[in-house]
Amino acid sequence: MLQHDEGHELEVLRYRKRPRIVHAILASSFLLLLLSGLVILWPALSGIAAGGFTRWLHRVAAIGFMSVPFVYWIADREGAKELMVDSFKYDRDDWRWLKRIWSYLFGHAANMPKQGRLNAGQKLHHAAVMLLSASIVITGLAMWFFMPSLGATGQAWAAVIHDISMLALTLLLIGHLYFTFVYKAISGMTTGYVHEVDARLEHAKWVEELEEEAAVEADSESTPTPAI
Ligand code: HEM
Repeated sequence: MLQHDEGHELEVLRYRKRPRIVHAILASSFLLLLLSGLVILWPALSGIAAGGFTRWLHRVAAIGFMSVPFVYWIADREGAKELMVDSFKYDRDDWRWLKRIWSYLFGHAANMPKQGRLNAGQKLHHAAVMLLSASIVITGLAMWFFMPSLGATGQAWAAVIHDISMLALTLLLIGHLYFTFVYKAISGMTTGYVHEVDARLEHAKWVEELEEEAAVEADSESTPTPAI
């Protein structure tokens, strides 16, 4: 959807309310998992972990984190499906875009191949988030409920895979935040809208599709209904 804001700049609806709420649950539960996990893991912080509160908090955050796919599915099935499919589907422009990813890293996206609703970098990020989250959840549940039956080697493997997946997701988050601010995308998750100029820089094909839809809609509204 395209609309003018109060300053009369053209804005594009990027995320409706429900996916924004899902993203807020994902971001806050992940940050809580990260902080409580660091307290459990890091000997220097063991003083804070005493008394079992941190372990309890880590499990509460884990429940929030695991609820995300279910909440997304219930709240916005079409959006959830779109995210799943788009994150793993790459066209010729995506591969051409990835070859020039250095330009994007330094904030120069203007002359890169046109991208759809998600650019190829976002597709890779979102796909990695899904795979790493699955790894964190599987190993986390194994350590939570099946610790005795894992044996010493199983416990060590579960812990190593859990921690490495969490580290990888944290490094991805740093990149995610960097691109959010470089390409002025934050309002997409706060108000839901981004400026058309910013959207076109990263998602030109998608903005063109929205413009075509808006033109068809305007056309059908202006065509008089034949009198019967
Ligand atoms: C904590 C601060 C965070 C901020 C400021 C932030 C910001 C954003 C923004 C602005 C978008 C929309 C980008 C676009 O225009 O498409 C987005 C999307 C997304 N972010 Fe984050 N994010 C944060 C944390 C996280 C975390 C921790 C994860 C994963 C563990 C994550 C995963 C995602 C995913 C999967 C999407 C796509 C959402 C969808 O299509 O429904 N984000 N984020």
